[in-house]
Amino acid sequence: MTTPDTTDRGDAEQLSQIVSRQNAQLKALNEANLLLAEERLVSSVLQRVVDISRELSGARYAALGMLDETGQLKAFLTSGIDERARASIGELPSGKGLLGAMLERTEPLRIDKMSDHPKSEGFPPGHPDMTSFLGVPIRYKGRAVGSLYLTDKDGGSPFDQDDEEIVRLFSNQAAVAIQNALLNEQIQVLAVETERTRISREMHDGLAQVLGYINTKAQAVEQFMTNKDLDAAKDHLKEMSETARQAYREVREGILALRTQVGPDRSLSDALTEFISEFRYHLGSSTKVKQTIPDNMNLNPLQEVQILRIVQESLTNTRKHAQAATVSVVISQQNEGLLVEVSDDGRGFNPMAVKREEWPHLGLQTMQERAEAVGGTFEVESARGKGTKVRVFIPNPTSVRSRRDDS
Ligand SMILES: Nc1ncnc2c1ncn2[C@@H]1O[C@H](COP(=O)(O)OP(=O)(O)OP(=O)(O)O)[C@@H](O)[C@H]1O
Ligand SMILES: [Mg+2]
Repeated sequence: MTTPDTTDRGDAEQLSQIVSRQNAQLKALNEANLLLAEERLVSSVLQRVVDISRELSGARYAALGMLDETGQLKAFLTSGIDERARASIGELPSGKGLLGAMLERTEPLRIDKMSDHPKSEGFPPGHPDMTSFLGVPIRYKGRAVGSLYLTDKDGGSPFDQDDEEIVRLFSNQAAVAIQNALLNEQIQVLAVETERTRISREMHDGLAQVLGYINTKAQAVEQFMTNKDLDAAKDHLKEMSETARQAYREVREGILALRTQVGPDRSLSDALTEFISEFRYHLGSSTKVKQTIPDNMNLNPLQEVQILRIVQESLTNTRKHAQAATVSVVISQQNEGLLVEVSDDGRGFNPMAVKREEWPHLGLQTMQERAEAVGGTFEVESARGKGTKVRVFIPNPTSVRSRRDDS
């Protein structure tokens, strides 16, 4: 018989084992979550989910089946299975047998020997042999979105309650990460479409004004020629050809700007760095361009597109108007949001008195619209001889919420 003392010690030991196992599980879950957060592409998130679930459960093989809105299997990813076996399974399995049965379940399913299960239909030729099984549904807001299939724990031994629990907890995080990635892709598509509409409007407005200007000049030239005032006709022709040259330069620069894109596999930081290096090249050696750009700016895809375009337009303005020795792009994370500053030490101007001439001045106005469209603010600080600073501030989503809460 055990004395009360040894029983206590036994209980304490057992308890401490449980606590340390739970700690290890929490640590693993936390690490899994961080790994998931690194991915932006849906396909990469899905692959991470299946790889991580295999590691967390100690399974030899893992698979992830994803459902579309109609409940049909739309993707099937595996982990731990070699190319040949993967090819024999085919692009998408038929979805019958245990695989199909899992997709209809709301609770996890554990089986010590798969072949004994009534739904088991055996494996196709070339498929690795599998013994123990753990299936965990992935649900988002009460709806089945897919299922995790784990087999052969430590080479075939049964999965236990702890394995089931950790994969179940992980599947909740996975569901959120998958949903986020899907939403992000949708926003990306929307951002590109909104951007196309805006650019076609800008091109239309800009070109319409340039062509209108050239037309007016051409009529004037005709009039001067009729009146035999050749000197005046020549002056106007010179202006016309300068305008055409400038329009051509701007179209080329516009194309460079459009070629630079942000996307799920291209960060804003990379896109800006690439644009600035090409811009330096276009600028030549007379102006120095400095940059301080953080790797991660925590912006949504719509905000990324707008910041990219604002920095591009500000830099174009410095090239066209500033005659600066130094231009700098500084992006910094502040307590309340992200601050983007493009400054130059050039000739400056009076922002309150931008001339309304025939020539279009859309840049500053469009930058303001872009910043405001994504919840940001836009300011220009400039004076003759004092350089120019364009400042855009995008508040953090949390600080916007708390500010709204205060009001
Ligand atoms: N960095 C700068 N340095 C000096 N002047 C500037 C600078 N940025 C803008 N300006 C002045 O402000 C005016 C308005 O700029 P804005 O970008 O709106 O139009 P634009 O560059 O003339 O034409 P668009 O951008 O439509 O091609 C410019 O014409 C220029 O006089
Ligand atoms: Mg401009």
